[in-house]
Amino acid sequence: MATVRTSIHGYWSSRFVFVLAAAGSAVGLGNIWKFPYMAGENGGGAFVLIYLISIAVFGIPVMMSEVLLGRRGRSSPIHTMSILADDEGRSKAWQLLGLMGVLAGFLILSYYSVIAGWALSYVVDTASGTFSGVTAEQAGEVFNNLVSNPQRLLFWHTLFIVLTMIVVLRGVSKGLESAVRILMPALFLLIIIMIAYAILNGDFFAGLKFLFEPDFSKLSPDMVLKAMGQAFFSLSLGMGAIMMYGSYLPEDASIATTSFQVALADTLVAILAGLAIFPIVFANGLEAGQGPGLIFNTLPIAFGQMTGGLLFGTIFFVLLVFAAWTSAISLIEPAVAWLIEKFSISRLSSSIICGFVTWFVGLGTVYSFNTWTKIEVFNGTFLEGKSFFDLLDYLTSNIMLPLGGILICIFAAWLMTEKSRHDELKIKHDGAYKLWRFLARYVTPIGVIFIFLHVLGVLEKINLT
Ligand code: PHE
Repeated sequence: MATVRTSIHGYWSSRFVFVLAAAGSAVGLGNIWKFPYMAGENGGGAFVLIYLISIAVFGIPVMMSEVLLGRRGRSSPIHTMSILADDEGRSKAWQLLGLMGVLAGFLILSYYSVIAGWALSYVVDTASGTFSGVTAEQAGEVFNNLVSNPQRLLFWHTLFIVLTMIVVLRGVSKGLESAVRILMPALFLLIIIMIAYAILNGDFFAGLKFLFEPDFSKLSPDMVLKAMGQAFFSLSLGMGAIMMYGSYLPEDASIATTSFQVALADTLVAILAGLAIFPIVFANGLEAGQGPGLIFNTLPIAFGQMTGGLLFGTIFFVLLVFAAWTSAISLIEPAVAWLIEKFSISRLSSSIICGFVTWFVGLGTVYSFNTWTKIEVFNGTFLEGKSFFDLLDYLTSNIMLPLGGILICIFAAWLMTEKSRHDELKIKHDGAYKLWRFLARYVTPIGVIFIFLHVLGVLEKINLT
């Protein structure tokens, strides 16, 4: 029997809209804010290489598996997992995978929103001419003034959560479609303009070299973990966002093609963002490894100097906010949809509850950049020196998302019947189907666990490496 369910939350109007929405989820602060600073902190080329490999061998198979499960279950991730566990005669405990995803979504959005708040604040700064003719030092000061002021961070964080919940409470397909259709291409265009500026005025060659010349002495287990985590984070994998969006996907759309397109678009934006930023970093003698403030310390210099910078800069930060917005929506949608299904409450109540919880947890990140920069209880442990923000980021990107990803693969590629997964994926080419199954069965789970064990030092202890 072919299992065709319906979604109570609606559908995308076409396959193309799903690609846009999934790309909207994937492309966000992860590409433009996080990828450059992570690459900068971890030595450039080698990190980029591992990131790209992770996208290909883990990212694409996990994305296909996640969309597959979502479309088959047609519910929020927690319910989808419970329905599919029933279908396939597996333990109900698989719901916990959905639950871990909902938790990861809350935790990520709580800090994501604070960073999106920085971008909001930069819209106002740029538009009001703060950066005209600015030096690197002055740009740094503007950034420090912002992050050292909890009230300002709180204001922007609150505004961003409200914006996000407004779209979510209208229902994802209505709220999202129009936004993504125009804004994503516009963002792409602006990054190209930035690259043109970087070629003309930055040290483009140094930027290229930094991003693409791997220095393998920089390789370490922790760096590999971070590059892999960044791949999961950037593609929005492992926490149910893509599963949720897959549940709105029309029956006849090809999961393989759409996943491939989303992964490609996402990777391209990250690489292009790197190409726009590092030439400016090197031309101005800035520190590539300075951390989360990187783009906020570099791009304003470029906007301050280029002709039309006021306009371009303002548009850029507006688009960055939009990119963050479309990702934020996907971070919280699984939780909102689940509360609606579970307690039969309205979308409005569910959105308010989820928004409030996320906002509250976000306070920890607001203070991470000023009054509470280290969590003292960790002194003397390997987490010593980490802030609340660092901790959440590390825990979600590097542990929860990859763990979710392998569990998704295990369910899709091992525990479902051959017929279920084959029917749902509808890949016509047998070789392509087998390649997905091989990657999802062996390469992703073994690869990710291998990296986990490496970081824990287990392999070294038993003399495996
Ligand atoms: N992929 C988003 C970004 O790059 C972040 C995100 C992670 C969204 C996980 C949903 C789920 O900004």
